[in-house]
Amino acid sequence: MKINPADAPRPLADEGAIEEAAHILREGGLVAFPTETVYGLGADATSDAAVARIFAAKGRPSFNPLIAHVEGLAAAQELGVFSEEAGRLAEAFWPGPLTLVLPLAPGASVSALARAGLDSVALRAPAHPVARALIAAVGRPLAAPSANRSGRVSPVSAAHVAQDLARRVDFILDGGPSPIGVESTIVSCLDGGPRLLRPGGIATEAIEAALGLSLAEAAPGKIVAPGALASHYAPRAKLRLDAIDLDAYEAGLDFGGRFRIGPMIRDLSPGGDLQEAAANLFAFLRELDALGASRIAVAPIPHHGLGEAINDRLARAAAPRPKQT
Ligand code: TXA
Ligand code: MG
Repeated sequence: MKINPADAPRPLADEGAIEEAAHILREGGLVAFPTETVYGLGADATSDAAVARIFAAKGRPSFNPLIAHVEGLAAAQELGVFSEEAGRLAEAFWPGPLTLVLPLAPGASVSALARAGLDSVALRAPAHPVARALIAAVGRPLAAPSANRSGRVSPVSAAHVAQDLARRVDFILDGGPSPIGVESTIVSCLDGGPRLLRPGGIATEAIEAALGLSLAEAAPGKIVAPGALASHYAPRAKLRLDAIDLDAYEAGLDFGGRFRIGPMIRDLSPGGDLQEAAANLFAFLRELDALGASRIAVAPIPHHGLGEAINDRLARAAAPRPKQT
């Protein structure tokens, strides 16, 4: 297999780079690629051996299933069984930052390892042109979690991927910064109707509007999306949420210009725009972490729209965590 050391991502993913990446994927290699939410760590979703390399590179527990990325509805229908509601959601939001968890279709080619042995499958058709071109060039579904070491902050640039996974990935496609900045919204459409498993890049309100009903929240305490548990998306620094003011030694993650201005302060959106805040979230967490502060104070962020996903990620980043190596 051709190993292309990935420490120095290319300036922009052109056709040649996409063809090279597709070749590596067809041979069972790992390619990090941009999506509009975050960068994914991709492998051929039909190959157990290729998918096993994702779990190894990330240090991810193998009971946590992966999303299979497809070109669109037609490809998805070969892998998952669409209920009427699932079809309506795909119609409304694909390609885009929505993942649907569906019953596995008979004869579906997604590897059992990618599904963590479940008889359901998570499917997403990303909108990013580089992701779409890559999936088309490979001609197979791509299993891809976020391209970070397990439990860490998700990458929203090729440089972030290189920081976390250099030498563990065969190739990094650089598509510039991910415009949405938080992971896809995950909706389960198994028995019993649609349920929200993870808030994300599409506001829950928009999904409810498309369905014409209110989404039943996943039953608390039940492991439905294993990655949606406990400590996740964690920087090295501790986080203090809903901070009204800063302690002297704290770095600050501001929203709407509440804190003083300073070298240890980043404002997610001085004008209070939640979309801008989501796009800045992971990059600013990384920047503040790199300054070496032991604690980051985070200003209150409204809970509506993309604020739901932002608050979800911040709560996980602040959760007590196992010792990281
Ligand atoms: O925006 C995104 O969704 C990014 C980009 C790369 O597509 N991907 C991403 O993947 O965030 P990951 O692996 O970090 O999160 C996928 C989530 C996990 O929490 C996993 O447990 C859940 O999807 N999941 C996957 N298959 C599932 C299934 N069959 N049932 C329930 N949850 C599932
Ligand atoms: Mg992740």
